[in-house]
Amino acid sequence: MKRFKSVKGLWIWLLVVLMVFVCSSGFAFERIKFGVISDPHLAMPAAGTKNEFKMQLSSVDLMRSAVKEFNKIPELDFVVLTGDMTLNGEPWNVEMVKMVMDELKAPYYVVMGNHDLSMVPRPPKPGAPPSMGQYLGVTRSTIAWTFQGHGFNGSDLWWSLDPVPGLHIIGLDTNTPGIWGGSVPEKEVAWLDNDLYVNRDKLTIVFAHHNFTLWHKDEKESAKWKNYHWFHPDNAAEVRKVFEKYPQVSYVITGHRHIGVRYQELNDVGYFVIPAVCSYPMRYTVFTLTQDELSWDSKDIPISKKVWNEAKANLVGKDGEWWRCSDHKDDKKLLEFFEAKESMKGKVSVRTRP
Ligand SMILES: [Fe+2]
Ligand SMILES: [Fe+2]
Repeated sequence: MKRFKSVKGLWIWLLVVLMVFVCSSGFAFERIKFGVISDPHLAMPAAGTKNEFKMQLSSVDLMRSAVKEFNKIPELDFVVLTGDMTLNGEPWNVEMVKMVMDELKAPYYVVMGNHDLSMVPRPPKPGAPPSMGQYLGVTRSTIAWTFQGHGFNGSDLWWSLDPVPGLHIIGLDTNTPGIWGGSVPEKEVAWLDNDLYVNRDKLTIVFAHHNFTLWHKDEKESAKWKNYHWFHPDNAAEVRKVFEKYPQVSYVITGHRHIGVRYQELNDVGYFVIPAVCSYPMRYTVFTLTQDELSWDSKDIPISKKVWNEAKANLVGKDGEWWRCSDHKDDKKLLEFFEAKESMKGKVSVRTRP
């Protein structure tokens, strides 16, 4: 105590030491665990609801089962749902998604998918019966207001927040009414640029529905394969440049593609695609993040063997199904592409930051 002339001096010294520690650590986290699910396409049993490629009648059970698995994980910091929450934006399915997600013990955040806003009725083909049921969807604003506090904060359709001190997450809206593709409007791109500048000292993960990289050659615009370029926003290259401009943008995690988890790096940014809850192989994914490393484990959602086999049979379907790529004439190749068993688990180094 001699070194300090008074108790007050000791307190000042302790305060300085604490401030140096806090500033040098930048409130950095040590270890974060978070879950990601995508594309539950939740569909309460209604006229016309059936199990197809999307296991509509099993979708509530599948989503509840994924939520139960997340609830068993101790110290899960948060969960993100990367869009296509509902079959086609029906109000009753929006309500149900909210109810099921509210069963999570961990905080959760959502981004919108192309199926979470009303489709645009097209003139029926000659002789075709009118089919208006699928156009009874909500607007994007309804989603934003329903999920206030789960990413959305006010009327904006995109958001950012720090779920844990030192980690910044961003939820983008990549949807364009009327098509299953999308784009990121200029106003949102400018917001993204500014948000990344303001939060440049925090490790950042971006969540969105549409993908910013290719997962198959058929997705190139030049491939002209079944509009598969709509798996990406039209201005994906422009948005990638914004990600690349800020070295704290370590990962971009998306859904929409309904295939097993995959990872690729492009210009130092890591991109993940997350499997769907509602279509084979139905999986949920848990990520563990430290300052140096990100690891992941994608697991099958527990569900009856009957549902599992039905989903697999529905994926295989028949030749010419919409979701078959140009090289998927062989069922084995189709299954390998969707199952992506080799990348269900993995780990990568975190992008070097300034
Ligand atoms: Fe989807
Ligand atoms: Fe989608």
